[in-house]
Amino acid sequence: MLPDHIQLTANPDQALRNFLNSRKYNQVLVLTDENTLSYCFPKIEKQIPAYSLIQIKSGEENKTLSTCAEIWEAMTEHKLDRHSVLVVLGGGVLGDMGGFCAATYKRGIDFVLIPTTLLAQADASIGGKLGIDFKHFKNQLGVFLEPSLTILSDVFLATLPENELRSGFAEVIKHALISDMGLWNEIKSKGLHDQNWPALLKHSATFKYSIIRQDPTEKGLRKILNAGHTIGHALESYFLSTKNPISHGEAVAAGLIIESYIAQLKGMLSKEDVYQIADFLLGIFPRLTILDEAIPEITALSRQDKKNKDNKILAALLDGVGRAKWDCEITEPEIERALAFYRSLQT
Ligand SMILES: NC(=O)c1ccc[n+]([C@@H]2O[C@H](COP(=O)([O-])OP(=O)(O)OC[C@H]3O[C@@H](n4cnc5c(N)ncnc54)[C@H](O)[C@@H]3O)[C@@H](O)[C@H]2O)c1
Ligand SMILES: [Zn+2]
Repeated sequence: MLPDHIQLTANPDQALRNFLNSRKYNQVLVLTDENTLSYCFPKIEKQIPAYSLIQIKSGEENKTLSTCAEIWEAMTEHKLDRHSVLVVLGGGVLGDMGGFCAATYKRGIDFVLIPTTLLAQADASIGGKLGIDFKHFKNQLGVFLEPSLTILSDVFLATLPENELRSGFAEVIKHALISDMGLWNEIKSKGLHDQNWPALLKHSATFKYSIIRQDPTEKGLRKILNAGHTIGHALESYFLSTKNPISHGEAVAAGLIIESYIAQLKGMLSKEDVYQIADFLLGIFPRLTILDEAIPEITALSRQDKKNKDNKILAALLDGVGRAKWDCEITEPEIERALAFYRSLQT
């Protein structure tokens, strides 16, 4: 079940209005970027009693301290006090950064997250991680704080560019693969644009929230959320250093295939399951071109993953579809074999 402060609704405007009416804040400041201002704000605007608006530039490159300064300045100019609220309307970049600004302004004011990308709805807005990038380190500064309300609504997905939809879909697929075989079967019977987004959002948010509640400090269970990410992060870092960087979603999709093959080598997953996972994912995410000379580098990058311990490469692997085990040791020869398998797949 979702907790009271996470609402899944077809009417995000009404959910916001009801919340604001119940709280009677002194000031309401809405944070948008240029895209969410054009595409998403009209979907909630009419129901907000009285508000001020701030728009910042979209993009990960703006998830910085200087953009925070812009947001804190606007909060100060609009005289937000401890009984004010920041409504953050945007993807994961805005959610992480807006939440961080609210959490630190006057030692913390209330904020509402209205995530507008699939990735933010299914992943980034759940779990209370807030922050910004600093000196080229991702999410270097940040805090943990839950918003007063999170409104999840698939109405925002209609305007999302396809590459952004795919990016979030990789995390949605990961959640199904590690927790719910029935849902995975449903997902793989449909194409990207025919998915039942409200049902998938409900599953992702409920599942991620329950994991985080059971293991807030990532001692064990929470590590299953890293499925696909040990190899995924290595691929993301590798391609970042080439002329063709890939998105996080593309990296995770390939990581899920490659790690599934490793699970099969260890007898944890059937060949048939591996081919079904690969077939479906390659139908949505074109196969990455991994050259011979990239293999040692990708393997070495897997060794650098921050989740590793005692010089062992650790991954969360599927243990049958719908279940996963974390802290599974994987070896360099296994990674090499799995990369060779991935490269041999037809798209
Ligand atoms: N806090 C966490 O637990 C957590 C988890 C995963 C990722 N993240 C963070 O999330 C960020 C990535 O988030 P993202 O993938 O949502 O990217 P994003 O926030 O950059 O949004 C992607 C693009 O889509 C645009 N956009 C947003 N909603 C739209 C809509 N409905 N219609 C049209 N355009 C829209 C945005 O303006 C932006 O250009 C990263 O910074 C990452 O670190 C955080
Ligand atoms: Zn991810």
